[in-house]
Order: sequence, then structure tokens, then C-alpha cells
Amino acid sequence: MSTLEAGSGAPENTGEHSGELTEPPPQRAAERLLGTVGSERRWAGSAESVAANSAWWDADADDYHVEHGAFLGVADFVWCPEALREEDARLLGDIAGRDVLEVGCGSAPCARWLADHGAHVTAFDLSAGMLRYAAAANEATGIDVPLVRANAEALPFASASFDVACSAFGAIPFVADVAGTFREIARVLRPGGAWVFAVTHPMRWIFPDDPGPNGLRVTGSYFDRTPYVEVDADGAATYVEHHRTLGDLVRALTGAGLVLEDLVEPEWPDELTEVWGQWSPLRGELFPGTAIFVTRRPA
Ligand SMILES: C[S@@+](CC[C@H](N)C(=O)[O-])C[C@H]1O[C@@H](n2cnc3c(N)ncnc32)[C@H](O)[C@@H]1O
Repeated sequence: MSTLEAGSGAPENTGEHSGELTEPPPQRAAERLLGTVGSERRWAGSAESVAANSAWWDADADDYHVEHGAFLGVADFVWCPEALREEDARLLGDIAGRDVLEVGCGSAPCARWLADHGAHVTAFDLSAGMLRYAAAANEATGIDVPLVRANAEALPFASASFDVACSAFGAIPFVADVAGTFREIARVLRPGGAWVFAVTHPMRWIFPDDPGPNGLRVTGSYFDRTPYVEVDADGAATYVEHHRTLGDLVRALTGAGLVLEDLVEPEWPDELTEVWGQWSPLRGELFPGTAIFVTRRPA
């Protein structure tokens, strides 16, 4: 399983679904605020996913930054819990002077790093709560990245207006229509433009969301695409995350006219001890936790 609401009291995936509810005690502030009573595996479309995730990230913005703010920094581009940095990986190529779009930017530390390295960056996110952190960090750093509130499934940008689009765990795990989202991103890229994004490695969905030994036990099917949905007492979604296999993502990318150039699976560095939700040294030594897709719109 692979929920990104790191460190939450989200119940583990038991591998069973279809309306079956598990019942954790609400632990996280966002869960209490939204009245989350449990989770299930069930279908959730675009409207429900957008409504739930917009409310979730608004409610969780404070906790997310208390937990991960120091790891993410304010003008640093960290791709993943394995701490791979764009400074070292250079997956985006030369970004100086390029028009770059950050997708699902959160507080936008990546966008500010890019701006600091000469890119013309626009950053967007669904959540006003996350964008409030981005605006505060803009002010604190003096790196004034333009911020837009938008849903990745329907981009408010002109066609062929960016040279590069990138995302570190933003938007893609949360959209119901990933094929449509990739088409939108391909549309706003100029010919030859790159789309590079990090997501939870799809194989993590077969395990419980546990950084310890319990997280080494297979409890679900890799092939089960049923979304992970947290719900309130009325059954309304309070958080939705969508699982796709590697093949599903490749097909959605190629269907959008993009070419896959690389699939990076960052290895856990020996010296890294920090646990991020279900990402840990124990699991990182054994199997990948992040998949970074490097793709391009043909010139
Ligand atoms: C795990 S956070 C990652 C944020 C940031 N990239 C980082 O590294 O901290 C996921 C982000 O995706 C955003 N998001 C979720 N669904 C989205 C959508 N449909 N469109 C745009 N952003 C979305 C959330 O609001 C949240 O800020």
C-alpha cells in the first residue's frame, strides 16, 4: 500500500476491498477535522477525488510541513524520500532560461530551487492550504515564484507554453484520470519539452503502509487498481489515492504522445536514516520506493 499522507493513522491495506471498512482511531488532525472514520478500496471518479484531496491537503498542510518541512527545505529540489536531489541527478537537463511548470507543487521548494538556478517557473497546486505555505516561503526567501491554484486534470495554461514540466509526488497519485492529465501536460509542453515526475513505486501497493518488518509482508495484489479511499461517517471520501501499475503509466504516457526516456528507481543511500511514512532504510534496502519517469514530447 502506499498512501502519501505520511505518518498518518491510515489503516493498512488488507488486500480486501469492495466496501469493506477498516476502523482506525482518527489520529491525524486532518482526519479529525474531516471526520475520517476508516478506509476502503472502492472506485472514486474525478469530481470525488478532487473534492476529497483538495479538502485533505488543506486540512493536512500544517502537519505535512511540521513533519517534512525540514527535509524538503524552502529552495531545494528533493525528488523523493530517498533524498535524490535535482542538483545531483539533473533529470530535467539544463533549465536556465527555460519556462518550467511545477505540477502539484505543495509549498513549492522545487520551484524556488529552479528559479534560483535561472528557470522561469510557474507552480500550481489544487490546495489553497498548501499554496499558503508556498506564498509564505516565497516571501521568506525573496524568490517570488508565480503560484496558481489549479487541478492537474484541466490546466489553465496555453498550449505549448513550457519547455519542462516536473513533479515530486504532486497531483499524479491523486488524479482519477491519469491519461487525461498526461494529455494536458503534453498539450502545455512545447515540442521537445520534458515531463519528469516522481510517484510512489507501484509495487509498494502490495505491502501494508508500514516502514517496519510488517511492511515486508505481501497483503494485496499489484494488479488491483481499485483506489484507496478514506471516508467519513456518511461514506463520503476524505482522501483518495489511485494505484496504477508501471505498464498502466507507460501506456497513459505513450497514449498522450510522450516518449519514455528513462525510469529512475532511486536506491536508498547508506547514510540516510530518516523514515518518511512507509519509506524506511529497512524497506529501501530491499525494493524500490519511488519511480521517476523521464519523458519527452517529440520535437
Ligand atoms: C505529497 S504532496 C507533494 C507536494 C510537493 N511536491 C512536495 O514535494 O512536498 C501532493 C500534492 O499534490 C497536490 N494535488 C493533489 N491532487 C491534485 C490535483 N488534482 N491537481 C493539482 N495538485 C494536486 C496536493 O494538494 C499536494 O500539495
